[in-house]
Amino acid sequence: MDERIERRAFLKTLATAAGAVVLVPAVSRCASTVAGVSTAGDAAVDAVPVVPPPGWDPIDFNRVRGNAGAIPQTYLPAINGPDGDKKHLGKHLPYRPTVAADAVPAGYVALMWGDPEKGHARHPNAARDDAAGQLGHWYSWIKVRPAVAGEAEEATSAYSSWPAAGAGDTGAYAVFGDGDITADGGRNTIYLAALPAGVKPGDTVRIWAHCLTHGEYVDFLTL
Ligand SMILES: [Fe+2]
Repeated sequence: MDERIERRAFLKTLATAAGAVVLVPAVSRCASTVAGVSTAGDAAVDAVPVVPPPGWDPIDFNRVRGNAGAIPQTYLPAINGPDGDKKHLGKHLPYRPTVAADAVPAGYVALMWGDPEKGHARHPNAARDDAAGQLGHWYSWIKVRPAVAGEAEEATSAYSSWPAAGAGDTGAYAVFGDGDITADGGRNTIYLAALPAGVKPGDTVRIWAHCLTHGEYVDFLTL
């Protein structure tokens, strides 16, 4: 698991009762607006805004921050290449799929990555395969914070494995269309991520998330 996650104290993880999975949001309070970034120390990497700056462009922002260290060196040719915007950077930006309201537990938000309506590639997911030396491909953590200035509560969801979340994980998965989560290269995977207390429909939140193989990405969504 990412060492940044290990340092976090989670209130509680998953509890199982009567055969049903009960989700309990894990919340951490960050005094710093940029807490959690341990990469490089480059100013461009550390400078993660808490509210969308005027003219916010998540593609440009994540390209700059990625080149400064938030995205692995091996992926930089892809994000900087001719298909970088939609097939690589856009593929890692969050969007909210249309799902039935009762499919999302209270206190959670359903997220997917790579909005096809924007022409972005849909993000695949893959399991770890130690025998093949494959790290796996999924989002290992998602942090959600109200897009407000100053100190605010930030909820962190951790995912230690895919296609099933680990026993101690604070995030969970669902499937878009209720099919097999592994179908279509795992592209129908929905991430159920904890919301900070007090956020409500209409609020804008910052989504800061980490793809195991492709690094960190930041964007804002309105609930
Ligand atoms: Fe990825």
